[in-house]
Amino acid sequence: MAAKQMLIFPVALLLAILSFTAALPSETIANAADTLSNSGYVAMSLTLNLVSGSLLSQTTSATIFTPPDSIFADSGQPPLSLLQLHISPLLFSLSSLRSLPPGTRIPTMSSGNYLTVTQPAFSDQVSINNVSIAGSPVFDDGSLIIFGIENFFDPDFQISDAPVQIDSFNDCQRSYGGDRNFSFHDAGNVLISRGYSVMASFLNLQLLGFISKPSLTLFAPVDEVLVDYSDRFPDYPSLFLRHVLPCRISWKELANIGNRTNLNTHLDGFGISVTRSGVKLMVNGVPIAFPDMYYSDWLVIHGISEALSLPEPSEDVDDSDGDSSDAIPSSDASTCTEF
Ligand SMILES: *[C@@H]1O[C@H](CO)[C@@H](O)[C@H](O)[C@H]1NC(C)=O
Ligand SMILES: *[C@@H]1O[C@H](CO)[C@@H](O)[C@H](O)[C@H]1NC(C)=O
Ligand SMILES: *[C@@H]1O[C@H](CO)[C@@H](O)[C@H](O)[C@H]1NC(C)=O
Repeated sequence: MAAKQMLIFPVALLLAILSFTAALPSETIANAADTLSNSGYVAMSLTLNLVSGSLLSQTTSATIFTPPDSIFADSGQPPLSLLQLHISPLLFSLSSLRSLPPGTRIPTMSSGNYLTVTQPAFSDQVSINNVSIAGSPVFDDGSLIIFGIENFFDPDFQISDAPVQIDSFNDCQRSYGGDRNFSFHDAGNVLISRGYSVMASFLNLQLLGFISKPSLTLFAPVDEVLVDYSDRFPDYPSLFLRHVLPCRISWKELANIGNRTNLNTHLDGFGISVTRSGVKLMVNGVPIAFPDMYYSDWLVIHGISEALSLPEPSEDVDDSDGDSSDAIPSSDASTCTEF
């Protein structure tokens, strides 16, 4: 199905390639280097300038962990492989890091190597590979977040406990708690503060019409990629509902589910396939850029870098004069029933 779509829409393919190969803007890196140097992280500021071409050109978002100057002074300039371990191609805010239970793996730019969350879940102190994070980010512009840490991460760090076994998610069924007093207010505020206002508005529109507290996962595209949809008012419910799963799946659970797991959404007939490619985790081919952006006991929001599109109706494959810019989901097209 995906292959067909790409043949039909070479422009979409081109856009996809552009977005996957795009780098962090040089302006972001220059701002980050300035901020680092003004905040007493001079060594990382210089290092960032040196490695930005090679390391940060491969990703549109990143989280960097930096030790203070005194640690650089003691250990000398770290080798590239060690620096790679200190950069994740995903965005993590302080609250998303806090939400991660111990044992959660954080992908890094060092291929095949992960960092491991070591703090107790929901503790105020965040630690990764037994190294504490200094608190609020030194730098955060929405595409690059930089945290100070006490020391370099040890590349040989191993967590002693066996990885926690996660229940499989073959069964993303609708479920509701009895509580009628729930609100999207906090989640909406987080979305707005991070540049996902369109999704925040959708949440507030109560399109889902719940009477009691649901369990939900929202895959939120950033505002920029939703601009194209802004004048298509009749499509709003479909656009929103296909980004919402009827169960709650945190980053830790997503990172542990099998490749090509299919999950139902709140849009009937539209399913989401979770796949892995290197360190990236994708939903219907769209990379998850900001895991656990919002996290509560009934709602998790993950930022994604594109909107999830509807499959094209299959008859349009044959007649190429298709006027199908607003595709209706065809009942055969979805992957959600193939458990
Ligand atoms: C990490 O810290 C915990 C608790 O302090 C300790 O039990 C464990 O041995 C440490 N792990 C490593 C690899 O240093
Ligand atoms: C609903 O919850 C909010 C905050 O959690 C609380 O302030 C409010 O009083 C509650 N309302 C009812 C009707 O229980
Ligand atoms: C997951 O499945 C996709 C699609 O079939 C494939 O391209 C990818 O290599 C697989 N990833 C892993 C880690 O096996």
